[in-house]
Amino acid sequence: MEGELLLLSSMIFLLQGACGCPEKCLCHPSSNSVDCSHQGLDEVPPDLPPDTLTLLLQDNQISQLPALAFRTVPQLKILNLSNNSLSTLAPEAFHGLWDLEVLNLTQNSLLSLESRIFQFLPQLRELDLSSNNISHLPKSLGKLWENLTVFAVQHNQLQHLSRELLESMPGVRLLLLHSNLWKCNCHLLGLKLWLEKFIYEGGITDGVVCGSPDTWKGKNLLKIPHELYQPCPPPLPPHLELASSQAQHHSSEHGELHKSPEDHSLGPHDLSECGVKPKPKPVNLRHAVATVVITGVVCGIVCLMMLAAAIYGCTYAAITAQYHGRPSPPTTESGKTGGKELFESLPA
Ligand SMILES: *[C@@H]1O[C@H](CO)[C@@H](O)[C@H](O)[C@H]1NC(C)=O
Ligand SMILES: *[C@@H]1O[C@H](CO)[C@@H](O)[C@H](O)[C@H]1NC(C)=O
Ligand SMILES: *[C@@H]1O[C@H](CO)[C@@H](O)[C@H](O)[C@H]1NC(C)=O
Ligand SMILES: *[C@@H]1O[C@H](CO)[C@@H](O)[C@H](O)[C@H]1NC(C)=O
Ligand SMILES: *[C@@H]1O[C@H](CO)[C@@H](O)[C@H](O)[C@H]1NC(C)=O
Repeated sequence: MEGELLLLSSMIFLLQGACGCPEKCLCHPSSNSVDCSHQGLDEVPPDLPPDTLTLLLQDNQISQLPALAFRTVPQLKILNLSNNSLSTLAPEAFHGLWDLEVLNLTQNSLLSLESRIFQFLPQLRELDLSSNNISHLPKSLGKLWENLTVFAVQHNQLQHLSRELLESMPGVRLLLLHSNLWKCNCHLLGLKLWLEKFIYEGGITDGVVCGSPDTWKGKNLLKIPHELYQPCPPPLPPHLELASSQAQHHSSEHGELHKSPEDHSLGPHDLSECGVKPKPKPVNLRHAVATVVITGVVCGIVCLMMLAAAIYGCTYAAITAQYHGRPSPPTTESGKTGGKELFESLPA
């Protein structure tokens, strides 16, 4: 009797667990989807059915996600968090969602993302980060995303997107990038090259319009000719930078180092302006070029003098031979005239 009662009560408990629907949500058991959209929620409801596959949380006021925010719904495949107030995501917020395929975070207030925030979402197919305030994306947002086909970051404040990040999503087919603050300097060349290959291989993108510098503002990154991009200068080690400044400003008073624009453009802190116009060659390079030229000229003169000496020797030998009345081979004859000409044309 007691056992039966226990069984009954545990069955009721299980039924409640499976069928219970959070107060402000609509549950559709047939499709395992839960719709909690537009309910003024400020957090993820704690009592979600554990077998939920689709969770709609859009149009609420959720402002942050703690670690393991979705641990009660580990089978989730589609998660819509669009139009909330998310500004911070705990680095482990989405951990445990091994099956998540679609994550929609559009229309929030995200400013940046942790580099490993999406690390444990191996099945992700679509990631929508559009219409946030993201100004920087790390070089990696997770492991290799084999299955990611849609990556959307349009309407943010991005100036740059690293090639490494794009290469971590080899299967991406749709890439939305427009309405950002793209800074079309040498650092964006990697993106340009990557996009050209992407489009050639059938990928779809919506265009990258430059926000700066002024020369390219409003221009499409893909339409700026390659020739106008200089490769980014490698950052100089500090002691070399100092040495070249000292060399150039040797005569400047008080030993205070006023940096000329030329030096400045080489400094690691100013790579941002590593721009699109050719720069004057650095001092060290000019020295090196001059040294090579001078060495070449000196070597050339020495070689010519040695050649002349050899020809003179041969000619002398031939004349001596003729003087002694011996028949001379024809090669010596031609060598003689050619040698004489060369010898005479040389300044003393
Ligand atoms: C975003 O959600 C709010 C309610 O939180 C709603 O009033 C507004 O219409 C939604 N905006 C869009 C574009 O759906
Ligand atoms: C919620 O997000 C999903 C997946 O991104 C999307 O298919 C769906 O249209 C969104 N729902 C609404 C009501 O916007
Ligand atoms: C994300 O949701 C918005 C509106 O809720 C929708 O317009 C958009 O298509 C969704 N993104 C994806 C990738 O499904
Ligand atoms: C990509 O999707 C396929 C088919 O849905 C799946 O078998 C595979 O495990 C997924 N890749 C990864 C890395 O999970
Ligand atoms: C986000 O950007 C929008 C428009 O670009 C701006 O109105 C809003 O103040 C920004 N929010 C934050 C938190 O920076």
